[in-house]
Amino acid sequence: MAFKNHSSRIVPSSSSSVSTSLPFRFTTIITLALIFCSSYYIFFSQFDYSPVTSSLENPPFVGDLRDLTFPWNKLSLGPISEKLKLAVFCKSWPVGSIPGGMERHAYTLYTSLASRGHEVHVFTVSSDKSNHENIQEYYNKGDLHIYFAPNKNGVLNQTQAFEIFQRINGVDDHPFDYVHTESVSLPHWRIKMVPKGDVAVTWHGIWYEIIHSKLFQELYYSNEHPSSDLEQMMPRLVNEIRFFSSYKHHICISNSAREVLVNIYQLPKRNVHVIVNGVDQNKFVYSPESGARFRAKHGVPDGNGTVIVMGVSGRLVRDKGHPLLYEAFALIAKTHPQVYLLVAGSGPWGRRYAELGENVRVLGSLEPEELSGFYNALDVFVNPTLRPQGLDLTIIEAMHCGKPVVAPNYPSIVGTVVVDERFGYTFSPNVRSLVETLDSVVRDGSSVLEIKGKACKGYALSMFTATQMASAYERFFMCMKNDRYCKYPLPIDN
Ligand SMILES: *[C@@H]1O[C@H](CO)[C@@H](O)[C@H](O)[C@H]1NC(C)=O
Ligand SMILES: *[C@@H]1O[C@H](CO)[C@@H](O)[C@H](O)[C@H]1NC(C)=O
Repeated sequence: MAFKNHSSRIVPSSSSSVSTSLPFRFTTIITLALIFCSSYYIFFSQFDYSPVTSSLENPPFVGDLRDLTFPWNKLSLGPISEKLKLAVFCKSWPVGSIPGGMERHAYTLYTSLASRGHEVHVFTVSSDKSNHENIQEYYNKGDLHIYFAPNKNGVLNQTQAFEIFQRINGVDDHPFDYVHTESVSLPHWRIKMVPKGDVAVTWHGIWYEIIHSKLFQELYYSNEHPSSDLEQMMPRLVNEIRFFSSYKHHICISNSAREVLVNIYQLPKRNVHVIVNGVDQNKFVYSPESGARFRAKHGVPDGNGTVIVMGVSGRLVRDKGHPLLYEAFALIAKTHPQVYLLVAGSGPWGRRYAELGENVRVLGSLEPEELSGFYNALDVFVNPTLRPQGLDLTIIEAMHCGKPVVAPNYPSIVGTVVVDERFGYTFSPNVRSLVETLDSVVRDGSSVLEIKGKACKGYALSMFTATQMASAYERFFMCMKNDRYCKYPLPIDN
């Protein structure tokens, strides 16, 4: 995300500490990780394309929504007149400065649910850590109620958040219909204190995927310092698998995460669901005019269809894969002088990109209203991340603007987003593979990229809109409250 003050967005799902005295040696870990990742690929190769495309080709789904194996977003879920009272535990809420991906996700989802008339109570902290002491403790916007419960460092005081939750739960003899937590904002050991223990959790990143990304980082940076935390990875995974079952229902943001939770974490199939993230489809729209204006403003020459503009955005830091793109683009710019790279965002790698000279424009952080113009200025959007963090919102935003994407071939991406080459290009996270991929982007040229971009737009509108995400969560919570709503289709669905 090309935003100012954008801090780390991966959400380690495990907060509890693990004894570090376990006798795992570094080489053991690497070996285990290699075995684990190769089996991961074998394991997923058979699923790669099936979950998404099958729903397009097979007869429409009929049955109990809890048996779905593809995203709920894909279904056409009708409006619901019954109203819910929901409790949400959430790591942080956007305030003031430009928010990061997780905060925008939470804001989009819960604002949308409240606008449908559901009473939504969010227990969280302000994303603006700089002056959390001046932030009021509570505010509401219609049916959306926000409670800030920070400790002195500005992070969620889980005890205080839970006290407020219990207070609201008792009000007017009208307890919450359902409790939802974003990752471990409501820790697993507190679940038993929730009436009926009925809690659903949305996982934005699981340790299994984090190990996968650590392995890639280790391989890519192997000549530099090996990272010390590798040795703690396996014990943390084991710990996570043990405590995940404290939560009753699990929502994943990719098909591949669902497979892991069912097959490796061994959670009951019917309790694991996929609801993918969505973005506001009215903010990110296809607009060649705004793209042309953006190009002109930043001095990209009008090459009469021969110029290819690539773009990257987000925090310009190492583990977002910028060293990889820097190396690869330096090679591409030598062989293809008509290729440009627009770099949006801030961070140490901004200066390095600027060293690449004429073919690179380092734009700094963009305001949210500039983002759509930025995506529209591109022929292709590149996401070089070394973290397989499920569904990065930037990829989805670019697709909504009708742009194809270049992304690493992590299971979460190839299984849910870039499900086939109609939507772009995937690469293994190493320089050779990325150079080969960028080379085929250039060889395909702007007219092929435009066709792929149109396909992306259609796919994004069928899967990744804020409206579909809100409908999916709404139906999920209704189904949890009353299993009459678990049936599909109902007369309200179309
Ligand atoms: C968290 O909240 C509880 C209860 O309101 C309070 O007693 C405790 O001191 C707080 N902890 C921190 C670290 O702020
Ligand atoms: C642009 O390309 C078109 C077709 O490829 C060609 O007819 C036209 O002369 C070109 N214009 C310029 C200014 O190069």
